[in-house]
Amino acid sequence: MNKKGFIFDLDGVIVDTAKYHFLAWQQLAKGLGINFTEEENEQLKGVSRVRSLEKILAWGNKTISQELFNDLMGKKNEEYLGYIAEMDESEILPDVPKVLKFLKENKQPISLGSASKNARTILERVHIMSDFDAIVDGNDVTKAKPDPEVFLIAAKEINMKPENCIVFEDSVAGVEAANTANMISIGIGSKTILGHADYVFNDFTEISEDFLKSLIEK
Ligand code: G6P
Ligand code: MG
Repeated sequence: MNKKGFIFDLDGVIVDTAKYHFLAWQQLAKGLGINFTEEENEQLKGVSRVRSLEKILAWGNKTISQELFNDLMGKKNEEYLGYIAEMDESEILPDVPKVLKFLKENKQPISLGSASKNARTILERVHIMSDFDAIVDGNDVTKAKPDPEVFLIAAKEINMKPENCIVFEDSVAGVEAANTANMISIGIGSKTILGHADYVFNDFTEISEDFLKSLIEK
């Protein structure tokens, strides 16, 4: 069989941590007197921690000191880590293990490409760290999605050319990053939001082995 590099985003693709990010950001926004909605949260998916806080402050028309900014970033992460600590493998999204198993059995290299600095902690909590040949996360990059840096490094780590890589992404910024990297983008979520992806599926239960085979043989 041919070889393709399969790169997985983490939050919203492997596990549904978006709800925990939302709860933690909402708590923080409330403390600043900012009303923060789920629609706005959609725009924070795939976006780095720093950039997320900048966006929330802009939506609320607030300017704060650098000191308070750093303090709030720390507090948000503490709150988020509290939710993460409770996670286990039951939070892995449906059919993700099945797809990972299929790729592994067919000797396809698998990489993680996440903006999160907590990626390794989460993979450990849900016990799927060993499914990845390489892990590239928010600690390894200088430029956040939609910049393609995270995916380009993820491809390099598994010795695959970008044009031979396939990215699973749930965020607008992430699909844009995959497209810019010249990779095949597979959106996980709604077609309305991820219309710029090469393919879109609601979740992994809609992804068949035949489809994966067709990508590998392309
Ligand atoms: C992912 C999430 C974002 C989050 C970012 C940074 O891309 O979709 O919502 O802000 O990671 O995560 P971190 O765990 O480092 O705060
Ligand atoms: Mg994501």
